[in-house]
Amino acid sequence: MLNKNKSVARSFFITTMGCQMNEYDSDFLAQSLIQSGLLPVDDPGRADLILINTCTVREKPEQKAFSLFGRMARIKRRKPDLILGVVGCLAQQMGEGVIKRFPQLDFVMGPRELGRIQEILEQIYSGRTKIVATGLEEPPPQPTACRGYFKGRVTSFISIMEGCNNFCSYCIVPYVRGREISRSPEEILIEAGNLIAEGVKEITLLGQNVNSYRWNEEENGDFVSLLKKLNKLGGLLRLRFTTSHPKDLSDGLIECFADLDKLCPHIHLPFQAGSNPVLKRMKRGYTREEYVERIAKLRQVKPDIAITSDVMVGFPGESKDDFEMTLDLIKRVQFDGLFSFKYSDRKGTLADKMGNKVGETEKSFRLSILQDLQKQITLKKNKNLEGKRMDVLIEGYSKKEGQLKGRTGSNKIVNLICDTIKIGSLVNVIIKQGFLNSLRGELT
Ligand code: SAH
Ligand code: SF4
Ligand code: F3S
Repeated sequence: MLNKNKSVARSFFITTMGCQMNEYDSDFLAQSLIQSGLLPVDDPGRADLILINTCTVREKPEQKAFSLFGRMARIKRRKPDLILGVVGCLAQQMGEGVIKRFPQLDFVMGPRELGRIQEILEQIYSGRTKIVATGLEEPPPQPTACRGYFKGRVTSFISIMEGCNNFCSYCIVPYVRGREISRSPEEILIEAGNLIAEGVKEITLLGQNVNSYRWNEEENGDFVSLLKKLNKLGGLLRLRFTTSHPKDLSDGLIECFADLDKLCPHIHLPFQAGSNPVLKRMKRGYTREEYVERIAKLRQVKPDIAITSDVMVGFPGESKDDFEMTLDLIKRVQFDGLFSFKYSDRKGTLADKMGNKVGETEKSFRLSILQDLQKQITLKKNKNLEGKRMDVLIEGYSKKEGQLKGRTGSNKIVNLICDTIKIGSLVNVIIKQGFLNSLRGELT
């Protein structure tokens, strides 16, 4: 379709949904656009180009995206020169279908095609619209450092691997992010060096299965070797990684929590369900006993390690007894925090075709029981920290007026009153009060 009136975009606005991988991708897009001379604005009403970075992992983020498309389409009706692009996982999943449903959109671009943003904009400037870029064959683009972009940030991400080969039966990610592909240690170290030079103090390594990172067949190409290299970087205070898969959590990796001084004492290790028959149908590749054994090993090596996880309720065929097994696992492990979800059908996955679906009311009921249980555990754990001394990296200002906000190595939010310390510093704090979602501390 040709639109001769289209003018060149000078400003852009990006809105991001979904996981940290999407936040990283939005930073990539923003840097590419800045390098082609566009200016970021924080009001979509003032932007010539709006990108919506989407997620499709469950029905909820998808619905959120659709309502946003509608809102953006209304802005475009008032401002026909506006360029509207949908990027990310929902874009990949729906392809042309997004444009069919929302004809105001100009282009659709999947996660592996983000490197084509400048080329796609050129095509739009020359009059073409309705571009669909959803190839999965190419490796994801390499970020090109945009000087000054990360200035003022204390924490940042580096994607070290992309895609997933696991095909858990409920999950859409392998279909929208493609097969696993790792980046070279050299590129990762250069990116880390750039972030540190901009003042970043904490780096979180990202991957759908971060611990199956593998660079070629090289002897030192595994995830543990990569962590060891990053741990040596001067100027870096903290290192984290997410998300780990229990089946790939080796003893060598667990030992890093004791051996590497910058690696924070926290692991996010999704378990998804506590019943073995459900885990089997989910194709997770471990049993509840194996999961519990990995937790025991983590706590043996690093006794104060914080453990968080993902779990879902109402997977097809999940009986009341299966659900009880999930509650039992939660009681046994005593997680520091849990992200819990109602199972939601994703088109094209194996679970979508399974029988014995659990009803919505039952799923909501199970979720609320599970969340009540976890709330008690989280609160108890946070209260137990009262009186303890902990190192806190100050990340910025708190929502509470006059207070600063930081995080412990165990990834808990700490608010504290202090007007003498700088954002980006690591301070020793005594925990005065533990709440459900944060701690209150004072300088020691
Ligand atoms: N790669 C990570 C996380 C992927 S998605 C991992 O392997 O754990 C993040 C979380 O969303 C998952 O851990 C899972 O708990 C949840 N999730 C994924 N697909 C889902 C679905 N169809 N319904 C409900 N929750 C889902
Ligand atoms: Fe999805 Fe499973 Fe891959 Fe995680 S490991 S992204 S849950 S398929
Ligand atoms: Fe969503 Fe894609 Fe992340 S589906 S959870 S944005 S990998």
